[in-house]
Amino acid sequence: MSNLSLPGMSGSRADLEALWMPFTANRQFKSDPRMLVSAEGMYYTSDDGRQVLDSCAGLWCVNAGHGRRQITEAVSQQIVELDYAPPFQMGHPKAFEFANRLIKHTPGDLNHVFFTNSGSESAETALKIALAYHRLRGDSGRQKMIGRERGYHGVNFGGISVGGIANNRKSFGSLVSGVDHLPHTLNINLNAFTKGLPEHGVELADALESIITLHDASNIAAVIVEPMAGSGGVIMPPQGYLKRLREITEKHGILLIFDEVITGFGRIGEAFASTHWGVTPDMITAAKGLTNGAVPMGAVFISEKIHQTFMQGPENAIELFHGYTYSGHPVAAAAGLATLDIYEQENLFQKAIQMEDLFAEALHTLKDLPGVIDIRNSGLVAAIEFAPDDNAPGARGYRIFREAYDKGVLVRGTGDILAMSPPLIIEPKHVDQLVSTLEHAIKTKS
Ligand SMILES: Cc1ncc(COP(=O)(O)O)c(C=O)c1O
Repeated sequence: MSNLSLPGMSGSRADLEALWMPFTANRQFKSDPRMLVSAEGMYYTSDDGRQVLDSCAGLWCVNAGHGRRQITEAVSQQIVELDYAPPFQMGHPKAFEFANRLIKHTPGDLNHVFFTNSGSESAETALKIALAYHRLRGDSGRQKMIGRERGYHGVNFGGISVGGIANNRKSFGSLVSGVDHLPHTLNINLNAFTKGLPEHGVELADALESIITLHDASNIAAVIVEPMAGSGGVIMPPQGYLKRLREITEKHGILLIFDEVITGFGRIGEAFASTHWGVTPDMITAAKGLTNGAVPMGAVFISEKIHQTFMQGPENAIELFHGYTYSGHPVAAAAGLATLDIYEQENLFQKAIQMEDLFAEALHTLKDLPGVIDIRNSGLVAAIEFAPDDNAPGARGYRIFREAYDKGVLVRGTGDILAMSPPLIIEPKHVDQLVSTLEHAIKTKS
């Protein structure tokens, strides 16, 4: 710990516990923080010198695996060549090159890119674009936003307002007004142990019609959902659900935003889940896999129709009063270009489709172990859900998470759900290690 030099930290474990909010808030390692000190391929090395299989792609972001030299080299070259360029009125070639490369992978006519620095900023940006779009069209009554229970759109005010995770909202006052929520789509009674998209639940999209009746379409700007809800527990869309949402939003002139911060860049198959599941929204938000997690960056992909609406003013006028100092940062753009090279050269956007059955079959062998109440998966993402201990929700999930880590496998634990979203370079031997370690952890700690 002595080398730790994060701002405000003097370097002891006690300081770390007090200051590292994401960890203390999640109660992970609260009494005994552990550090990851290096990474290569599918593995982290921990501060006690162990190899730890990364079944989470870091935090759903290192899709091409760790330590990719192409990215490191592109980043170091870029910082020497051009460390920074202002994104207002000015630009630099790599941001445009990256945007032009990215839109070859987006669905439909989502041909325009607004760069941000994180998934949270992407969500805020998309929500603001939706409001400004309607206003520019003379439809300024459309101000309400519809999110979904258990949805996660980052931690800024717009995102937590349309988000549906109670703990992320409850301490932060009245939030953004004019928000309503669709019901979530997890139904373990009907859909437990489904491989792929659940059979039951398409009718949950019809709740949007009731919400529209309540508020009137003329007051609603946008619906924002994750095609697959990641942080809320790896909740798959029921078969036909996303298509139904698209039909209803289109019928009522409401914009549909898919938050693909997790599902983007190959997690489900194809570059975007929208393409894989055949439903094109009006905007897609992204981050994480955009730069393989190496440099913070996010993006919002916008349809031609929305873009054109903003482009009608005089040439010298600012189209959208929104943007960040680091939008399209040269170093992030260089990391993104190198990341995209790897995805394309190694055909990684197809990898989730190729590995899906093997991954699913292996994980579903854990089905009858004690406490397991559901296993769900699609592409290269999966979750195991456990029945909570009496009067101690989250305790069983934490014990199993901890045992798996101690035995060399990192999974993502949230409450009694363990999520897995491995780098797309995963091979069958890694799946074996993941499943055998989880089997041991569940048998001994459930
Ligand atoms: C769907 C979704 N949206 C937004 C975010 C927020 O991204 P960030 O943590 O980069 O702000 C996340 C992060 O996990 C996410 O999963």
